[in-house]
Amino acid sequence: MKRIVLIGFMGAGKTTIGRRLAKALSCEMIDTDEWIERKQGRKIKEIFEKDGENAFRDMETALLKELAESKEMFVLSVGGGMPVREENRRLLQKIGKVVYLKATKAELLKRLSGDQKRPLLQGGSLEEKITSLMKKRERIYQETAQIVLLTDRKYPKDVVKELLNL
Ligand code: S3P
Repeated sequence: MKRIVLIGFMGAGKTTIGRRLAKALSCEMIDTDEWIERKQGRKIKEIFEKDGENAFRDMETALLKELAESKEMFVLSVGGGMPVREENRRLLQKIGKVVYLKATKAELLKRLSGDQKRPLLQGGSLEEKITSLMKKRERIYQETAQIVLLTDRKYPKDVVKELLNL
């Protein structure tokens, strides 16, 4: 069985879907954000504030390299910015079948309004932030993934069903 790697914008549902999918497949679920926070003993927001975004991106790449060497079966959910580095894209594809969980801007706006834990969304207009990040990332997500799945107005359990059928 091939490992499944979930990519997509913040708020696309990667962690929620990943958890359910792993349960359905009776395997471990690894979430890169949670992993980094646990290892660092601090929140991502704090890492960005104290060490800067680049340091966080290096932590992401280091973790992916480790996972790419693993022989274990797991579902992997990664932070929204993970596929931006080219090196990471190759590693993600090496780890498993990459699925892009896509959501429209309107849906993301709904899901992310009031968010306080994601450093890239703090201050200023949320809509402008989403628009500008999406502009930079949409093509990257599309090109990295083998499967694209729209999650708008879908229950997580139905998205998982769709994934299992694929
Ligand atoms: C980020 C997404 C976040 C987290 C960090 C940066 C991004 O993960 O890794 O705040 O650059 O899109 P989620 O996609 O799980 O929110």
